[in-house]
Amino acid sequence: MGKIIVANWKMNGSLDFIRTFLPSLKASLATTSNQVIICPPYPFLISLGMDLKDTPTQLGAQNCHSSPHGAFTGEVSAPMLADIGCEAVIVGHSERRTQFEENDALVNAKVSAVHAAGMTAIVCVGESMGVRESGQAIGTVTKQLHASLPSSTNPQNTIIAYEPIWSIGTGMTPILEEIIEMHQALHGATQTPLSLLYGGSVTDQNAKDILSLPHVDGVLVGGASLKIESFQKIVGS
Ligand code: 13P
Repeated sequence: MGKIIVANWKMNGSLDFIRTFLPSLKASLATTSNQVIICPPYPFLISLGMDLKDTPTQLGAQNCHSSPHGAFTGEVSAPMLADIGCEAVIVGHSERRTQFEENDALVNAKVSAVHAAGMTAIVCVGESMGVRESGQAIGTVTKQLHASLPSSTNPQNTIIAYEPIWSIGTGMTPILEEIIEMHQALHGATQTPLSLLYGGSVTDQNAKDILSLPHVDGVLVGGASLKIESFQKIVGS
């Protein structure tokens, strides 16, 4: 079965970058059974959606507001994202949890909004280095997972991304046994198991090994999704 490969461009990219990225993305899509979801910044969603409309690639956003509309200057709602063709939204990324003070309750409300708009929520969870070193990683992350998921959650509308905070953008990854242990715990943590992605310093060098682990249904890729050749290799993993 194909894996789920999600590109999180974060606050990176440009129209010029997209013009050079598209041919290699389309070439790698032609030879893979993996499901690819590209999450660019908001301004590029519509044009990228048009560029990819004849491909199986899905379009995803990196965040949304928890309300469907209203006086929230500068915000973007889930129904708006669905309206322009998004099929997925990343919710609760650790950068939003730490830099924008998003707590589990807010993440839960945003996941509800994504579900109500008919899209898939890619819900991020993960522990800090301090928590891992204190031996509390599994307890902390499963607790975070339960608090972040609303009752509307089901395997069709929700994907979980385990991203250890200390691994994001650092080049450090957990050892494979630690990924296996966490994914085993997350697999058993919900009534019906949800698809589980691993994220944090995924590269074309380690993607194949990570994707071959039990209960790893895909990867959430940051930095390497902006390196055209690396991402092409990851898509083909
Ligand atoms: P890196 O792949 O750059 O470590 O980022 C991971 C991430 O945060 C994806 O959401």
